[in-house]
Amino acid sequence: QNSYVKRRWSKDEVLSSLPHRDISSHKGTYGRALMIAGSENMPGAAVLSSKAASRSGVGLLTIGIIENIKSIIGSHLPEAMYNLHQSHQGMLSEVKDYSSLQLNAIGIGPGIGRNKETEKMVEEILKQQVTLVLDADALFHVKPHLQKVKERRFPTILTPHPGEMASLLSLSIKEVESDRFGKSREFAQTYGIYLVLKGPFTIVTTPSGEQFVNSSGNPALAKGGSGDVLTGMILGSVLQYENVQKALSNAVFIHGAIADQLVASTHSPLDVLATDIIEGISPLLHELY
Ligand code: APR
Ligand code: MG
Repeated sequence: QNSYVKRRWSKDEVLSSLPHRDISSHKGTYGRALMIAGSENMPGAAVLSSKAASRSGVGLLTIGIIENIKSIIGSHLPEAMYNLHQSHQGMLSEVKDYSSLQLNAIGIGPGIGRNKETEKMVEEILKQQVTLVLDADALFHVKPHLQKVKERRFPTILTPHPGEMASLLSLSIKEVESDRFGKSREFAQTYGIYLVLKGPFTIVTTPSGEQFVNSSGNPALAKGGSGDVLTGMILGSVLQYENVQKALSNAVFIHGAIADQLVASTHSPLDVLATDIIEGISPLLHELY
C-alpha cells in the first residue's frame, strides 16, 4: 500500500509540464473533439462545457446537441461545428459511426438528462476507439456498464463529485468522503480508469493507482455549472498532452486557480459564475505561459 505514489500537484508541477506548440503545427495536431451535452431543460451545460473546451486548446470542436437548443448555443460559440439531431435517439444512430469525424476524444454528460435514449447513447459511446470523458448524467448511465469500461483500450476518464462517486459505488457520501484516496484507488484500479474525484482537494487517480491531489480552488466554485466547465477544460486538455494524468491534474489546477485569482482580485466567494471561470481561462493561461 505504501509503495503507491501519492503527491500534491501545485503550480511548480503545472509549470514544468505545460504543453508547448510546435511552430509548424496545425489544427489537426491539437485534436478533434466532440462534446455531447445539454438538453431542453439544461441547454447551458452544453454552452459551458463546449466553450471551456475551445478555450483549452482543442483543434477542432464539434458540439453534439439536440437541434432545438442550437439557437441558444450557436451565438456563444461561432467557432464550433455542430452535430444536430432532433432527439438523442437520432444522435444514437450516428454515434454508431463517428469515423467520418475522425475524432480523438469525446466528452459526454453535462445536462444530457437521464432517459433510455441517453443511456443507450452512453453505451454506444463506450465502444468508440477514442479517449472518453464521462461526467454528470453519463456517470449515472455508465454504472450498469462498468465491465465494458474495463474492456476499453483507450483512456476512460470519469469526473464524479462525491455524490456521483457514492452512487457509482453504491455507498453513502459519508463513506466516500471518509476514504477519498482509498475508494478512488480501488475504483480506478478495478476498472482501469482515470478518476477525477472532485470537491475541495480534488484527487486525480490513474489506472495503476497513482494519486495526485490538487492544491488550488475555493468555495467560489461551489455553484452549478462549475463542474461543466471543468469537463470542457479536461476534454480540451487531454488532447494537448501525451500524458493523461498531467492533462487532468493541470486542468483541475487551472480551474481552481482561476477561482482563486477571481476572489483575490475582482470577485468575492459568492458571485463567481461558471461563465466567469471560462473568461478567466485566458488570463490564467497567459500568466502561466
Ligand atoms: N473548494 C474547491 N473546489 C470546489 C468546492 C470547494 N469548496 N466546491 C466545489 N468545487 C469544485 C469541484 O471540485 C468541481 O470541480 O467545483 C466543481 C463542481 O462540480 P460539480 O459538483 O460537478 O458541479 P456542477 O455539475 O457544475 O453543478 C452541480 O451536479 O449534482 C449535480 O444535478 C446536480 O446539476 C447539479 C450539478
Ligand atoms: Mg457536475
